[in-house]
Amino acid sequence: MMPVSSPTSMLAVVCLLAHRAVGSNAFNWSHIEPSWDLQYTPCYDGLQCARLLLPLDWLNSSDGNNGTVAIAIAKLPAKVGADHDRYGGTVITNPGGPGDSGVVHMIKNGRYLQGMVDGNRHYDVLSFDPRGVFYSTPTANCYEDEPDGNLAEWQMRGFGLLDGSKQQLRRRRAHATARGQRCAQADKGQSSIREFMSTASVARDMLAIVDKIEESRSAALVKAPKSGHRDDAQRLELRSSVDMGAEARLQYFGTSYGTFLGNTFLSMFPGRVHRMVLDGLVVGEEYVDLEWSTNLADTAHVVDYFYQSCFEAGPFCPLWRAFDMSWTTIKSRVDKLVADLDDNPRAIANTDGPETVITGDEIRIAMMDPLYAPLDLFDGLATLLHDALQGNYTLLLERTGITGSKKDACSPVRSLEYSWMDQASMAVRCGDAKDVTDRDLTFWEAYAQKLKGLSPDIGGLWAEVPFACSGWQTRPKYRFDGPFESPRPDETIRSGRPSAPLLLLSSLYDPVTPLRSAAKVARGHPGSRVLLQKSVGHCAFLSSPSECTKRYVRDYMETGRVPPEGTECEPDCAPWWPCPMDRAHLPR
Ligand SMILES: *[C@@H]1O[C@H](CO)[C@@H](O)[C@H](O)[C@H]1NC(C)=O
Ligand SMILES: *[C@@H]1O[C@H](CO)[C@@H](O)[C@H](O)[C@H]1NC(C)=O
Ligand SMILES: *[C@@H]1O[C@H](CO)[C@@H](O)[C@H](O)[C@H]1NC(C)=O
Ligand SMILES: *[C@@H]1O[C@H](CO)[C@@H](O)[C@H](O)[C@H]1NC(C)=O
Repeated sequence: MMPVSSPTSMLAVVCLLAHRAVGSNAFNWSHIEPSWDLQYTPCYDGLQCARLLLPLDWLNSSDGNNGTVAIAIAKLPAKVGADHDRYGGTVITNPGGPGDSGVVHMIKNGRYLQGMVDGNRHYDVLSFDPRGVFYSTPTANCYEDEPDGNLAEWQMRGFGLLDGSKQQLRRRRAHATARGQRCAQADKGQSSIREFMSTASVARDMLAIVDKIEESRSAALVKAPKSGHRDDAQRLELRSSVDMGAEARLQYFGTSYGTFLGNTFLSMFPGRVHRMVLDGLVVGEEYVDLEWSTNLADTAHVVDYFYQSCFEAGPFCPLWRAFDMSWTTIKSRVDKLVADLDDNPRAIANTDGPETVITGDEIRIAMMDPLYAPLDLFDGLATLLHDALQGNYTLLLERTGITGSKKDACSPVRSLEYSWMDQASMAVRCGDAKDVTDRDLTFWEAYAQKLKGLSPDIGGLWAEVPFACSGWQTRPKYRFDGPFESPRPDETIRSGRPSAPLLLLSSLYDPVTPLRSAAKVARGHPGSRVLLQKSVGHCAFLSSPSECTKRYVRDYMETGRVPPEGTECEPDCAPWWPCPMDRAHLPR
């Protein structure tokens, strides 16, 4: 997480930051005709893409109610064919958000994830844009025009991050309501995709995808004359190597909000789960209660780690000074700058964009992503802060999206960018949560102050995530709010029971999905086990590669066995030092 793994994802302000192209190998999804079964087209340099038609409304698929969604699916094929005896089936993954694109996640991290699960078995790795998100249609974009959406984000930026003052909250509350109304009206009277985007519908979609995969696999195996000369008996035997009983079962790797999707699936369809790895945990009960404060339990540790590891890196960290006696002096310099910027906003007379101001908020926004992905982003954050301390705000302006805003506001999105993520995210996270539109200003005032108390650095930014729901108008038709529980697993494949316990992964200090959340999720699922990877950042997956973690994940995927109680893994890389291994990147 947020869960949303990225809740970052969740931040309106991030929309403009999301403009990082993933590659130039554009692919035009509208060239694929959506179909009711999986028809793949080559895409993105070695991936296979499909658009799968599914009912819009899973609770009513009567004849007159034939609305559909077309789910954008991207698959990285296994290194062996589906008839090979070392073929292990498909691992489905969701990167988080809610609202992160599974397609972009596959482009960025598909190969890395395949390297993580592949061992004696070889897997197809597959992800999808959940309904309403990016390449899936219809989309939950509230604006027909890209510039309208971007201008709305800029207005919001002008209000400042939630600071807990009544004056600001009044305006922000009215603005959240206006946005909620605007989004609710966006479909002009047709049935709205926003009413069907809650995680229950997405979990049901995922079940349909599992069934569709099995359908095409059996069809291909029965039809195709195989390499070599296998007779039917042999072929049937091969089929059974990945058969999971009468009904196909899910193998899943979810990060951040993707853990909530996994937990929902497991709780709704426990007998349809074969393997499930959840990394960077969201506590289901808290998320549906719109309680986002518990996410920040370890955020301060991650911030401290930035300064501690910078101090230890010495001259390799641009923020370090030879006279620093400890990491706390580095932290004090930056804290002082932030306080000073809050008290004395800097006037910026851009020549290549509109004039603007810099306050402490710009630093807070710039810190968010680096806390998620220290390996990739600590360096850049230190350089940016170093420059800002010298009075040079160029990088800060670039990072927080203020320069070049004319271009951002008016040019069409490029092919792998997705500027309305927060609008899709709201439809999911506000719909999943109970209705909070009746909460008064006093509630939000206390809430914002509580979060700022938990993390002076990102608490205000984090408070935006639940606060945005204060004006959200659309309620979902299909909602699952618990219990988040499953029966004891049974490896002999028994109806109604998962085939293996949950494997839960966590980093040591995670800025938004703390380790303690893993233990809370484990309580609802007998036999589940927590593996601690002693890295810092969001999810074990994103915070560092670790051969040790990979070994346990591979073994689990193959055998369903979880590691011994109390297992800990060392990370293979640390920030400030070169990391020669492949690693995962933020999916946006
Ligand atoms: C994708 O293809 C459609 C239909 O051929 C076309 O209208 C659209 O402009 C294309 N989009 C891009 C970004 O090229
Ligand atoms: C939906 O069903 C109705 C009644 O059966 C039919 O008239 C209509 O064409 C269908 N719409 C679509 C998009 O299939
Ligand atoms: C299902 O959809 C049809 C067509 O829109 C509608 O007439 C019917 O009342 C719906 N049924 C339920 C249970 O919502
Ligand atoms: C400010 O920082 C930018 C980016 O690091 C650099 O290109 C530029 O030269 C700096 N400006 C001054 C006046 O030092």
